[in-house]
Amino acid sequence: MREVKDFYDNWEPKDFPNYIKVIMNFADELIFEEISLLLKKFENKEDFLVLDCGCGFGAFYNLTKNFNTIYLDISLNLLKKFKLKERKICANILYLPFKDNTFDLVLCINVLEHVNYLNALNEIKRVLKNNGHLIVVVINKNSLIKEEIFNDFKIFHKPLSIKDFEVKGFKIVYSNSVYFLPPIFKIFPPVILSKLLKYWKTIDKKLSKIFKNKGEFLIIEMVKT
Ligand SMILES: C[S@@+](CC[C@H](N)C(=O)[O-])C[C@H]1O[C@@H](n2cnc3c(N)ncnc32)[C@H](O)[C@@H]1O
Repeated sequence: MREVKDFYDNWEPKDFPNYIKVIMNFADELIFEEISLLLKKFENKEDFLVLDCGCGFGAFYNLTKNFNTIYLDISLNLLKKFKLKERKICANILYLPFKDNTFDLVLCINVLEHVNYLNALNEIKRVLKNNGHLIVVVINKNSLIKEEIFNDFKIFHKPLSIKDFEVKGFKIVYSNSVYFLPPIFKIFPPVILSKLLKYWKTIDKKLSKIFKNKGEFLIIEMVKT
């Protein structure tokens, strides 16, 4: 656990080579658009409490800024980089500092691959209200594309599959996957790569439909039963 925390405390995506930043932004955009659609049904709900669990420096803040949201991460350093001043908590997903049945929705984006995911799911289940929703994004064990830039993390990092989420106490109500970009795209200079990715987005969305649950990032919505 210490190792993961140290890694993220020293994580400086702004120092990454430009092509990696371009590709990471592209992946974030695909994830953002998918989750935005899932969140539409919660708009205008009153007293709707959300937890962004493993929020990092707030890359997905725009998804939840209109909800009553608490932002939690184990890395104090990343939380300091998060522009929000309030509602940030430094804590471990395995020991969430909240009472049982607190949240209507928990978001957990690219976090479960770093921890004992079953223990984390149990802890999230505890703090979710009955019929509360969990939206998870994880690196997909069954991805067609084995993209090295995402697998190059020198920390505990275990890709998961949709089957891993068939757990007691949760029902899967939606799943999809995004990101089918072949690694060969990395040979292009970042400026050209950015332009190509604009076209690739449409292709990626088509591939999501054809190769269900075979993209690099698995997106799953579950309901606490
Ligand atoms: C790949 S980053 C994702 C950050 C953010 N969700 C995003 O998508 O931009 C993984 C995040 O999980 C956090 N994390 C890792 N282990 C954790 C734990 N045990 N408890 C809480 N957060 C954890 C890291 O500090 C890091 O911010």
